[in-house]
Amino acid sequence: MTGRWLSEHKQEKYYRLAKKLDYRSRASFKLIQMDDRFGIFTEGDSVVDLGASPGGWLQVAKERVGDGKVIGVDLRPIRPIDGVMTIRGDITVKETMDALYEKFGGKADIVLSDMAPNVGGHYSTDHARSVHLCTYAIDVADHILKKNGKMIMKVFMGDLFPQLKEEMDKRFRDVKIHSPDATRSTSSEVYLVAMGFKGHRPKKLRSEDAEEKKKEFTVKGELK
Ligand SMILES: C[S@@+](CC[C@H](N)C(=O)[O-])C[C@H]1O[C@@H](n2cnc3c(N)ncnc32)[C@H](O)[C@@H]1O
Repeated sequence: MTGRWLSEHKQEKYYRLAKKLDYRSRASFKLIQMDDRFGIFTEGDSVVDLGASPGGWLQVAKERVGDGKVIGVDLRPIRPIDGVMTIRGDITVKETMDALYEKFGGKADIVLSDMAPNVGGHYSTDHARSVHLCTYAIDVADHILKKNGKMIMKVFMGDLFPQLKEEMDKRFRDVKIHSPDATRSTSSEVYLVAMGFKGHRPKKLRSEDAEEKKKEFTVKGELK
């Protein structure tokens, strides 16, 4: 049995399980596994899910927070889910962010991002695009996350990863790099599982002497 066979077999297993349990994507199991391992959700929590279509993570989040508020944002449509708000739009566009803050109304306990760029097969470009999306997810967290809030964010591994991790370390007391079992073993994606949001933007990103640094890596900005 080759590694590839085992990997395909595993994906097939999650595909069948998703169908059986009525989840919209195999990705649901990644979130279930991360919640079971790290204890992300508490009944009543409010959750923002970025890159939420087709809605597998939204289903899991709603199941686990009960009456808590849940909202999903995606470029693509999301079929309605009972008790879940959705917004169709590009998170890198100001209007979408404004619509999110207005519709959600208030602060969130958890920000999730499973956003992924359209992969073109060019490894370093796909990686840079993924990190770029992450900078916007961090910006959303900066605006909407409660003190001590949690965040899970997907990123494709590559040479910009240490800078991204550093930005997360500035904001959260504990940041783990994790790959749930339901992730394809051939995938370059990992999740940053962050707990204990410190509740403020790190000074460096706001102060003027950080302008130079912002040219290299900036939340809500372009990557070099
Ligand atoms: C892996 S899928 C998410 C799957 C989802 N977590 C689930 O369980 O059903 C990644 C999603 O990120 C979305 N996405 C990529 N770039 C985006 C952007 N700029 N704004 C909003 N969504 C984006 C894609 O449209 C895609 O639906």
